[in-house]
Amino acid sequence: MTLHRLREMHASGEKITMLTCYDAAFARVLDAAGVDSLLVGDSLGMVLQGHSSTVSVSMDEMIYHTACVARANRTAWIIADMPFGSYQDSADSGVRNAIRLMQAGAQMVKLEGGGWTAPIVRLLVERGIPVCAHLGFTPQSVHALGGYRVQGRDAASASTLRAQAQELVGAGAQFLLLEMVPAALARELTKESPVPVIGIGAGTACSGQVLVLHDMLGLTPETPPRFVRNFMAGGATIQSAVGQYVKDVREGRFPDDALHSF
Ligand code: KIV
Repeated sequence: MTLHRLREMHASGEKITMLTCYDAAFARVLDAAGVDSLLVGDSLGMVLQGHSSTVSVSMDEMIYHTACVARANRTAWIIADMPFGSYQDSADSGVRNAIRLMQAGAQMVKLEGGGWTAPIVRLLVERGIPVCAHLGFTPQSVHALGGYRVQGRDAASASTLRAQAQELVGAGAQFLLLEMVPAALARELTKESPVPVIGIGAGTACSGQVLVLHDMLGLTPETPPRFVRNFMAGGATIQSAVGQYVKDVREGRFPDDALHSF
């Protein structure tokens, strides 16, 4: 998988499939099932480590998990999260930490946040590091946002979100990821975007979809968010559940706006 091919998929309307992945065992399964992109998400702080948010995840932990995934992956595009604290203090530390993730095997890094991240995005892209900009609900800011809330519901916040997307793409971001954004707004942003837009809780019209692996395998103890489908329901194997996810996203059967969108 290449960035060029992913952009072609966005342009032609072919859906992009993405799942989070944190280790070699699952990387092998997901890659074999044809998942286009593996996201080494800092959600590992919650699903693997048992924390209540992603805030405590460290750079060393992200590097360890990125290297595990990269070792087993054959074809999927690997995106690694820049954890909280790895770019918030200065653009220089953002570049230094992104280089460490790329050297561990990432092909793109993901940063959360709006316009304030644009100078960092520009710096990374100029230095040959592809960037995915994560907008909408940004889990590292869960405390500032007052919990897990849909973003961009009213006209003012929708227009802020649109301006942020334009600014970050202008700064060179090659992917956007929209989390918990109303389906209608995500549809407009995807239509306007020159780069692929991956959605999670952002409706059916995004260029592609991502879910947290442990959520879609029904392994999360809490009630999953509205936008999750348990692909293990009905007694599937992990391989067939992931295969079904790939098929359903590609054929437009997941997500379903009536069930999974805002
Ligand atoms: O860390 C993560 O898994 C993510 C997804 C929720 C998109 O950022």
